[in-house]
Amino acid sequence: MTQDEMKKAVAEAAVEHIKPLLESDTIIGVGTGSTANLFIDALAAVKNQFAGAVASSEATAERLRGHGIEVFDLNSVDQLAVYVDGADEFDPHMNLIKGGGAALTREKIVAAVAKEFVCIVDSSKKVDLLGEFPLPVEVIPMARSYVARELAKLGGLPVYREGVVTDNGNVIIDVQDMEILDPKALEQQINNIVGVVTNGLFARRGADLVLMGTPNGVEELRD
Ligand code: A5P
Repeated sequence: MTQDEMKKAVAEAAVEHIKPLLESDTIIGVGTGSTANLFIDALAAVKNQFAGAVASSEATAERLRGHGIEVFDLNSVDQLAVYVDGADEFDPHMNLIKGGGAALTREKIVAAVAKEFVCIVDSSKKVDLLGEFPLPVEVIPMARSYVARELAKLGGLPVYREGVVTDNGNVIIDVQDMEILDPKALEQQINNIVGVVTNGLFARRGADLVLMGTPNGVEELRD
């Protein structure tokens, strides 16, 4: 099975997983990236069974609308039954690194509102210790150099993701070689740097369920 086939399999498994939650007034949160895109495509088959979605990026909103799925503003929604999104890495405790697609801040906001966070990945994303994937940090543009210096003090190698502007008008610094022994503490510590909007560690709000595509089928993982 190719990586794309594994992604498609988890996307379809995620639709099966959320089916029992779908009612005429159900609104679901939808993530960003190639796996989330496949989820959106699979979701289109059941679009008449729920009200619509909140998108974690402009790209996701566009894809949802393209399938005729209504996109809601998060401020008009009290509760999201579930949030479905990919990840760049996940560890055995359901901690994640996200933000490879630069949508981390909106992803974290939508995840925070959702009752359940279902993470959809292929098996290449599984690690024992987070940090092989450079940790994305969204930063207010004028604070870029200052934040980079502060991140270097934490032991990482900050690299400016040139040419990328987030949906919020900010920039991304990717931190390489960061030792992530305590993801919850580091998530908080980086967020405390003035000028940081958020970082791609999803540990305080990690996944509730990981659906992992493998060559032998989809595995369900919980902490
Ligand atoms: C987007 O900002 C990211 O958090 C994605 O969820 C993550 O990069 C996974 O993307 P893929 O599904 O394309 O691997």
